[in-house]
Amino acid sequence: MASITERIRDLVEAAESQIPTMRHAGALEAQRVRLLGRDHGLLTAIFTEIGSLPKDQRAAAGQAANEAKRRIEALLARELAALDADAVESNLKQREDLTLPPRPVRIGRLHPVTATIREVSRIFGTMGFETIEGPEIETDYYNFEALNIPPGHPAREKWDTLWVSNPLGDDPKMPLLGRTHTSPMQVRVMEKRQPPIRVVIPGRCYRYEATDAIHESILHQYEGLAIDESLTMADLKGVLYSFARQVFGSKSNVRFRPDYFPFTEPSAEIAFSCVICDGKDPRCHTCGGDGWIEAAGCGMVHPDVLRRVGYDPDRYQGFAFGGGIERLAMVISGTPDIRLFAQNDLRFLESF
Ligand code: PHE
Repeated sequence: MASITERIRDLVEAAESQIPTMRHAGALEAQRVRLLGRDHGLLTAIFTEIGSLPKDQRAAAGQAANEAKRRIEALLARELAALDADAVESNLKQREDLTLPPRPVRIGRLHPVTATIREVSRIFGTMGFETIEGPEIETDYYNFEALNIPPGHPAREKWDTLWVSNPLGDDPKMPLLGRTHTSPMQVRVMEKRQPPIRVVIPGRCYRYEATDAIHESILHQYEGLAIDESLTMADLKGVLYSFARQVFGSKSNVRFRPDYFPFTEPSAEIAFSCVICDGKDPRCHTCGGDGWIEAAGCGMVHPDVLRRVGYDPDRYQGFAFGGGIERLAMVISGTPDIRLFAQNDLRFLESF
């Protein structure tokens, strides 16, 4: 039988030829357990054997075993470190090209329609108007009838829209439609609240419309309503002047011209002076060359509308106005075509 020192030498030789070929930390650990493991390690067993050797052989064998243990441990540690370094290296090769320039960080932003709605709310907020919202799917009653537009009224033609069927069953007395304007909220608010009222209602509206650069079938409006005991047309004008100046600056002007809406009397059309060309460019895309941008409709709330919600028109008066959010966003940003707002083209949206 081979002597203990020979067996130790064989163990070390085998370890030195096998361990460097191992490619996994798990295999190295298995080797460590096989050779140096506390219970069944081959070298550990040899140490035990040495204890029972005759005294004169013990020192030399012990020295050889200690030396073997040191070498095997050093070898295992070296190979493990090499594996780690390889792993980092190959990871880098697989995943990262450190010469690539970093990807630009894309910061999100508000859609210009949302930004404009917030700006409108903020400005009317400075004048005491509270922002509220209402349903996009309306009943014929709120969109038309409560606003003095009974069936057959010619104004219905101006506001043709999409009719909606109710999945819970249609009620012929209450047809549903995509609201054509935010004005139905005038009635809804007055039904729920008592004067004084000052609210602004932004929201999406629908119209049966042939689209072009300034018309879209889905659009956003802002509606304003103020009801109190002594409001006049002068208050309406003051509020809208202040609005125009906060949006377009102190030099901007507002033009009121008589108009007709069934639910206001008197009624007016509001135009803002063109901030793009100042009325000086006969070919201006924004104002069409006449220096004015038609922006909203307005008027004093019709006494019949007040009566319908139970207000006494001799005690309460008020004014209402309604304008297009996209129209406003177009003027603020110099956007030439309303359809750009709904196309989701990032090159356009990121220019804000
Ligand atoms: N709702 C009207 C429209 O869409 C605008 C309007 C609002 C007019 C409030 C008068 C009062 O054209």
